[in-house]
Amino acid sequence: MRYTYDPIRDVFSKSVSGSEKEKRLAGESAASRVLEGDIVGLGTGSTALYAIQALGEAVKQGLEIRGVSTSFQSSQLAEKVGIPLIRLSEVDRIDIAIDGADQVAGFDLVKGEGAAHTREKIVASAADKFIVAVDSTKVSDILNKTVPIEVLFSARTIVTSRIKDMGGNPELRFSVRKDGPVSTENGNILLDCDFGDIESPLLLSKEISDIPGVVDHGLFVNMASEIHIGRGSGVEIQKE
Ligand code: A5P
Repeated sequence: MRYTYDPIRDVFSKSVSGSEKEKRLAGESAASRVLEGDIVGLGTGSTALYAIQALGEAVKQGLEIRGVSTSFQSSQLAEKVGIPLIRLSEVDRIDIAIDGADQVAGFDLVKGEGAAHTREKIVASAADKFIVAVDSTKVSDILNKTVPIEVLFSARTIVTSRIKDMGGNPELRFSVRKDGPVSTENGNILLDCDFGDIESPLLLSKEISDIPGVVDHGLFVNMASEIHIGRGSGVEIQKE
């Protein structure tokens, strides 16, 4: 994975893939689902960025919402575009969450390329509606991308061994602009795990969650209420 300076967000972030136009259409379409008074989960990444920017514009036009951010990066952007933020610890539920994904098969997702999946999953799980926005390159018949797993530093060797026992191929994610591994915003490390074609995301999700030392992983199984897919000049919306 390559990291580059992103002048829009004023941060270093992973290089983005896929069509920017499709991401923007999908992000804006997802943002249009937000209603007056909503508490809104603000996802992380290059597609969620467009949703946050669109919500910022709506706030300037008078829409009253409060955002719950899933990462430092999204907090910075939300502040920049004028979305009032409340802390995750201040809410017991969320009206709607909007986020991107690294891969989508049906209503199952792989997330976490930006290392924010633990918080993203908490926010999505607390939301009445979870709207996923992706460009068309993210859509697949079956999930087969590497699954990021956030792990306690001290448990890395044991968790690595358990993942291998399960048939996975884990790789420690390294930093690009510092020596050593990536440290998440929660102070943990990441194992990017290749499981090949994931025939049963639900079973694999449960098996990974059952490993002591795992904080959370990037499989989001049947959590999405709607998938907004940017395709060419339009948006295809899939609803449960
Ligand atoms: C962040 O950790 C991820 O879960 C992102 O939501 C995911 O990587 C999608 O990002 P892009 O929209 O940048 O592809």
